[in-house]
Amino acid sequence: MATDIDWANLSFGYRKTSYNVRCTYRDGKWGEIEVTDSEYLNMHIAATALHYGQEIFEGLKAFRGKDGKIRIFRLEANGQRIRRSAEGILMEPVPEELFREMVTKVVALNADFVPPYGSGASLYIRPLEIGMSARVGVKPSDEYTFLVLVTPVGPYFKEGFKPTNICIMREYDRVAPKGTGRWKVGGNYAASLSAGEKAHSLGYSAVLYLDPREKKYIDECGPANFFAIKDGKYITPESESILPSVTNDSLKQLARDMGIEVECRHILLEELEDITEAAACGTAAVASPIAEIHDLDTGKKYVVSTNGQAGPITTALYNKLRAIQLGEEEDIHGWNTIVDA
Ligand code: PLP
Ligand code: COI
Repeated sequence: MATDIDWANLSFGYRKTSYNVRCTYRDGKWGEIEVTDSEYLNMHIAATALHYGQEIFEGLKAFRGKDGKIRIFRLEANGQRIRRSAEGILMEPVPEELFREMVTKVVALNADFVPPYGSGASLYIRPLEIGMSARVGVKPSDEYTFLVLVTPVGPYFKEGFKPTNICIMREYDRVAPKGTGRWKVGGNYAASLSAGEKAHSLGYSAVLYLDPREKKYIDECGPANFFAIKDGKYITPESESILPSVTNDSLKQLARDMGIEVECRHILLEELEDITEAAACGTAAVASPIAEIHDLDTGKKYVVSTNGQAGPITTALYNKLRAIQLGEEEDIHGWNTIVDA
């Protein structure tokens, strides 16, 4: 164990671990997997990743279970999504088998950094692919580096499972209507920085984006999807500008398993009047409950949680998800990959 770490008080930040793994696509094929302890990359000053944003990434987590085993949550789904992201911005897709091999390898190599069961922390896994060829014309690269780093993390929102306030601002869009929002492209996050920092400076934990075309519907919640409970149903936006969240997909399944109806559809802003629970969901955010949603343009305040607590359905879903990730409950959907370490 990496014994100097205060596991229970980790924040969501970068901390050096022992190794990362890398692989390069060159001359039409992927090479050998390289294991390194270097935190640096050597790249050409004209690489497409630096100039034209050919950069995509993933985020998934590994957990130390009740039985001491290490489980990676939904590795396949993340492998499929990074392939779609690659296709979206004309990068070389990482074969799913290579993704699996590199992710499991880097977790096994850094097993000391998988936080202990009961700490509430996890090992965040960050796969990253970048275009490496030198270009000044706007063209895709033909050389790519895929690397996977890991870092132990605590909760994304420092409040953890305590509801926080979020805000709506119409002057910013994260993505264009038919843009790159459905893919996990670094540029989407660059585009979200000014709205996000403004929200933080006003005391909000995240921005609730409206759809970039009409500003009528709910889109995403900062670096997470949005779901709400309305008339006892789990409702979540469906739109081509939203990143399809693996956590949301899992929560939808768990809701169905609990007999809760699930609706994936456009959600009108006005529907926020009638919701009884809401949360931001994602790998980092897990299911972070929302207390109030403030529309900064109209002054309207949607009060979701009146008692400062997460609602019963959000709590049940969160507990169920965690129990599966920690091996406390049977993994009936086959979501976990157990790592031999
Ligand atoms: N939406 C955005 C914009 C994100 O960055 C993330 C984080 O990955 C999500 C949603 C949640 O996706 P997932 O549950 O797959 O982590
Ligand atoms: C994740 O939830 O994995 C994310 O990528 C969100 C954010 C930290 C970018």
